[in-house]
Amino acid sequence: MFLSLEGIDGSGKSTQATRLADTLRAAGHDVVQTREPGGAPGAEEIRRLLVEGDPERWSPETETLLFNAARRDHLERTIRPALEAGKIVITDRFADSTRVYQGATRGDLRGFADAIHKAAIGVEPDLTLILDMDPAAALTRGLARSSGEDRFEEFGLPFQQALRAGFLSLADEFPARCHIIDAGRDADAIAADIRALVLDRLT
Ligand code: ADP
Ligand code: TYD
Repeated sequence: MFLSLEGIDGSGKSTQATRLADTLRAAGHDVVQTREPGGAPGAEEIRRLLVEGDPERWSPETETLLFNAARRDHLERTIRPALEAGKIVITDRFADSTRVYQGATRGDLRGFADAIHKAAIGVEPDLTLILDMDPAAALTRGLARSSGEDRFEEFGLPFQQALRAGFLSLADEFPARCHIIDAGRDADAIAADIRALVLDRLT
């Protein structure tokens, strides 16, 4: 099973990915927890080009190509081998992030993003959990970390609001795959919802 967590910056994806991985391991599953951009050594090198530095350093088109280059490496080296070995893969972000961050916020690049995805990647997760919450609250959570990887957070609140709308409309577009989770609650309540959804899919 191939699972992705999606949502705006600071919505709790990595927290919930770790909780879900722990839950599934405790239930006896072999789990690979990974993330994008990154998830393989070469893809992690590309990550640094994307998440650090001046917000304007790349055009949305160039960004789309770099994210897909990183994704292809992640798919070849980490995701595909794990799925072929029968493991569950949980990724913190996948192609939906490109559809929304590059495809729907700074001009309409969705067609460009879809064409590259089709040519270079061609797979979708079995299940995508979209962590949805108020962008102002998420931004406060995210910037409080000061990770040095805040290039996208620095686009500011209106950008995060556009992202939220973009993720919600993806859920309408792919209703069989995408589930919206109310992420504005405490971590235990969110984890319980996710656990129930995933265990239901696994049985
Ligand atoms: P993301 O991976 O989506 O950017 P994180 O899981 O890194 O989000 O969470 C961002 C910050 O918010 C972290 O400091 C984390 O500890 C905190 N956090 C995560 N989930 C919650 C929650 N449900 N309530 C309050 N704070 C949270
Ligand atoms: P991530 O490490 O998940 O950041 P955060 O923990 O703040 O959510 O992702 C790094 C940034 O890259 C994040 O701001 C979202 C952005 N991103 C894209 O713009 N397009 C993509 O395809 C992916 C995978 C991430």
